[in-house]
Amino acid sequence: MAVVKALMIGDVVGDSGLDALEGLLPAAIREYGADFVVVNGENAAKGFGLTEKTLRRILSAGADMVTSGNHVWEKREFWPVMEKEPRILRPANYPAGTVGRGWALMEKAGVPWVVINLQGREQMTPIDCPFRAFDAIFNGLGSATASDAHPLYESGGFLPDSPFTGPILVDFHAESTREKEALGYFIDGRASLIAGTHTHVQTADERILPRGSGYITDLGMTGVAGAVIGMDTKICLDQTRTQVPYHMEPAKPGPGLREVMTGVVVEIDRETGRALSVARVAKFGG
Ligand SMILES: [Fe+2]
Repeated sequence: MAVVKALMIGDVVGDSGLDALEGLLPAAIREYGADFVVVNGENAAKGFGLTEKTLRRILSAGADMVTSGNHVWEKREFWPVMEKEPRILRPANYPAGTVGRGWALMEKAGVPWVVINLQGREQMTPIDCPFRAFDAIFNGLGSATASDAHPLYESGGFLPDSPFTGPILVDFHAESTREKEALGYFIDGRASLIAGTHTHVQTADERILPRGSGYITDLGMTGVAGAVIGMDTKICLDQTRTQVPYHMEPAKPGPGLREVMTGVVVEIDRETGRALSVARVAKFGG
């Protein structure tokens, strides 16, 4: 049986997160023998959104594809980058016509990898249904080719039903654990891995679902451990204690505050696309 491995890494938070990623990801790729790497970068630009420079740093660190979420819109100058760079995704279930693309097919070393980015609606912006968006994308995959980087969901040009058997990685950027597990069971058997992002705390529920999809509710984050979701602890305390909308800032490394990079590694049966194992990854810097 041919086996391929993917590494999916949780949200990169600010410069501290970029430093941590650059310091820890290359060694992790070697250690796990990862064939494909997905990194969520939606907090890379000082905690909110991305810039072209932060995207380039994530790609240079070893990411093959960068996913995002609700914060991807923060830097308006980044919007044109989402149009021209096929390795950055925004959630696919934004309405038709939204800038950027929500999924991609990338061939690497002869293996066609599909990455789909979705966003939850519970306690978040009520965009289009992530469940229906997955169906629409999945049902079009059988006829997609490696040069097909276009979002079929947005164009409405769905291709005929034809199951795709290559590896499929889903980043579900969502607040609600209920919605995340529900989407996991909805997709089960149709993707190699459904990995949650957004809450920045790595969950301990990684498993293989009954029909063969790997699953974890949240990958965690990449940045400073020992702070509040990678953000400055004092600012978060001031905000939560007073409910005044302080602007959060990424935490900086210091005494007792180490760099961390968390995510999962998944082994995938190349022929069926099903997960063979899924394991948490947590790497710490100095
Ligand atoms: Fe995030």
